[in-house]
Amino acid sequence: MKSFPLSLRAAALTGAVALAVGGAAIVNAQSPAGPEIQKAVDAAFAKYQNLAEGKNADYIPALAKVDPKLYGIAVVTADGKVYTAGNVATEVSIQSISKVFTAAQVIQEQGLDSIAKRIGVDATGARFNSIIAIEGVKVVQGTGAPEMNPLVNPGAISATSMVTGNSADAVWAKIIGIHNDFAGRQLTVLQDVYKSESDSNQRNQAIGALMLAYGYIKSNWQQAVDLYTRQCSIGVNAKDLGMMAATLAFGGKNPVTGKQVMDPAKVPGVLAIMATAGLYDDSGKWLYATGLPAKSGVGGGIIAVSPGKFGIAVVSPPLDDAGNSVRAQKAITDISNALGGNPYARK
Ligand code: DON
Repeated sequence: MKSFPLSLRAAALTGAVALAVGGAAIVNAQSPAGPEIQKAVDAAFAKYQNLAEGKNADYIPALAKVDPKLYGIAVVTADGKVYTAGNVATEVSIQSISKVFTAAQVIQEQGLDSIAKRIGVDATGARFNSIIAIEGVKVVQGTGAPEMNPLVNPGAISATSMVTGNSADAVWAKIIGIHNDFAGRQLTVLQDVYKSESDSNQRNQAIGALMLAYGYIKSNWQQAVDLYTRQCSIGVNAKDLGMMAATLAFGGKNPVTGKQVMDPAKVPGVLAIMATAGLYDDSGKWLYATGLPAKSGVGGGIIAVSPGKFGIAVVSPPLDDAGNSVRAQKAITDISNALGGNPYARK
């Protein structure tokens, strides 16, 4: 390394890839060093382990029964290494995080315009299951201002309805299939959560019917609501979620299985929706603090993506008023900031 310029020497020490173009050194984003990651993960785990803020979701009765102390962190890097703390084995229901992967399936099958034109890619500024937000869209539809996206319930149920297939089973095979590919293992539905949510999802049924009435769903809204409920009940642990985030971080290629799950050119669209609407009406605050595309679920999980550097996930069921895990937001913010994960920041 003796004759290397200083910038390249620093890059070699941190494991970054350096290219010399026209005499200038360009350092590509790459995962930070392992011991640094583990230190950040351990520090965030310890700092928030005894935090007593937030409350489990209870509008889906099964979610209220999950242990609020469950807390696991997983960071996954380009080489498929997984850095963990706490409980990364116990499964929770994926809930709204599934909306990212079903939208990814539609985008993969039908292109970026499919979601943008039928549903929209703008924040609603409202809660995730707001019916007023649907009425707002109805009024402005056709005026070039569809304030809707596939990460709130109305847009998500519509996205589920867009997955093609001749039967509910055929559609489901694609939905679970893309979740499996992102996670790198076969996932299953938590039947107790599926039953509990099916018994208590009258509001989502109303949303599905409205989305049919307003032309977002073209047919069979009951099937869309049922499959949406099923996708929300998929069981995942923090490690699965970390792997799913990492697959998004590395251009749609699962860093462990090596499978190219999604066309790399389509991944930025998925990340953009997460940046705009991943934490609902708190998405702006989140982006301001971290710069990371992310997605939360009322099961207590949050995934976040530092493109080209790492995927990160935290599971911890107690939520804040917007429906986002309190510990997960704090732990991800600390870890990402410690590792230089903010894609808008330059040293
Ligand atoms: O439809 C629902 O209300 C739930 N299955 C999912 C909502 C959710 O996860 C919102 N996330 N923060």
